Amino acid sequence: MSYATALRCRKCGREYPLEPRNLCNFCFSPLEVSYDYKSMAKAVSRQKIAAGPPDMWRYHDMLPVGDEVVNIGAGFTPLIKADRLGRELGLDELYIKNDCLNPTYSFKDRVVSVAITRARELGFDTVACASTGNLAASVAAHAAKADMKAYVFVPADVGAGKLTGIAIYNPVLVTVNGSYDDVNRLCGKLVEKYSWGFINVNLRPYYAEGSKTLGFEVAEQLGWHAPDCVVAPAASGLLFTRIWKGLDELSMLGLIKEVNTHMYVTQAAGSSPIVSAFEAGSLHVNPVKPNTVAKSIAIGNPADGYYALRVARQSGGGAGAVSDDELIEGMKLLAQTEGIFSEAAGGVVIAGLRKLVSSGAIKKNQLTVAFITGAGPRTQEIVSDIVQPLAIQPTLESFEEVVGENV
Ligand SMILES: Cc1ncc(COP(=O)(O)O)c(C=O)c1O
Ligand SMILES: [Zn+2]
Repeated sequence: MSYATALRCRKCGREYPLEPRNLCNFCFSPLEVSYDYKSMAKAVSRQKIAAGPPDMWRYHDMLPVGDEVVNIGAGFTPLIKADRLGRELGLDELYIKNDCLNPTYSFKDRVVSVAITRARELGFDTVACASTGNLAASVAAHAAKADMKAYVFVPADVGAGKLTGIAIYNPVLVTVNGSYDDVNRLCGKLVEKYSWGFINVNLRPYYAEGSKTLGFEVAEQLGWHAPDCVVAPAASGLLFTRIWKGLDELSMLGLIKEVNTHMYVTQAAGSSPIVSAFEAGSLHVNPVKPNTVAKSIAIGNPADGYYALRVARQSGGGAGAVSDDELIEGMKLLAQTEGIFSEAAGGVVIAGLRKLVSSGAIKKNQLTVAFITGAGPRTQEIVSDIVQPLAIQPTLESFEEVVGENV
């Protein structure tokens, strides 16, 4: 049973049935799922959620699909109090939402679990996606579980570790000689021709809803409170907007008090069209050609950039970009203070947070949640300079000769 009622245009408000469709026929703006919040409010309670499964489906009543879900165990990841990192950055109450700990090692499992469930409900036997790497792995894994066919399209330069992490689930893996934006354009053409459920194209409104669970979880894990500040990465900008929507819905449903969270968006400087627009005081995003080691968030023409900017602005938040060197330092700092090996997107968040604290945007006493959305091991080449072992012979003498002075 789902409380979703329609797909609604975010600009002109026109409504469409809950079908595979992501853009309004009239104004070409994105569609989003609308709900019967009145009935939903009657069905949900803190107690019911707390008694639910230890995964994202504890929030089933607030998601746009029926009972039979495709579930590989995404969500309800730890919210860690990061005291060491907090001291380092100058924050009294810093938390890390560790979404590295999803089944395919990124937050994408949340969005895919919802979208592929909807794909199956709509009668698709094949799913597909345009991906910077993480989404492809998640789509392939969920398709395996659902016994569906998957076609996944990634830029050819995503990196060997990423390709293995996709291929292991046996999808049709297509590498495209071009950028993510080229891959996305190609998928925009394929969706017209093939009757597949494209997880982040014609199923995008359902996919988007999965990220709300990050907002739900953080509030529940904080004892049903919204944080003072959120720092999250953006590629298309969708995740960032949905963390906010998750918090907002909880408040609307009466599960938390009014939300006063300041939303801060971070990007790698080599692919930061959203941050540039924010700094220019504009809601209009000028596309860029990405050039950064943070490949998973390297989107030059972000589909939800406008909406991400609105959330940053209306929440009294902000935006920050960091260089590749800074993001690599951010990855190392997170690992060496909190024991969490994130991918580059996590380094962007930590380095961005450091800047936001030193500029005074985020204050020492503000309860801040940093969203770490993907795990490091698949992109370890970025930090391979860290490997400098002390090589010895298997003898005490050799140990004392080489390591001795470091003991
Ligand atoms: C690890 C990671 N974090 C964040 C994002 C950003 O997601 P969005 O496109 O919703 O902004 C991505 C997108 O691929 C990602 O892979
Ligand atoms: Zn419209």
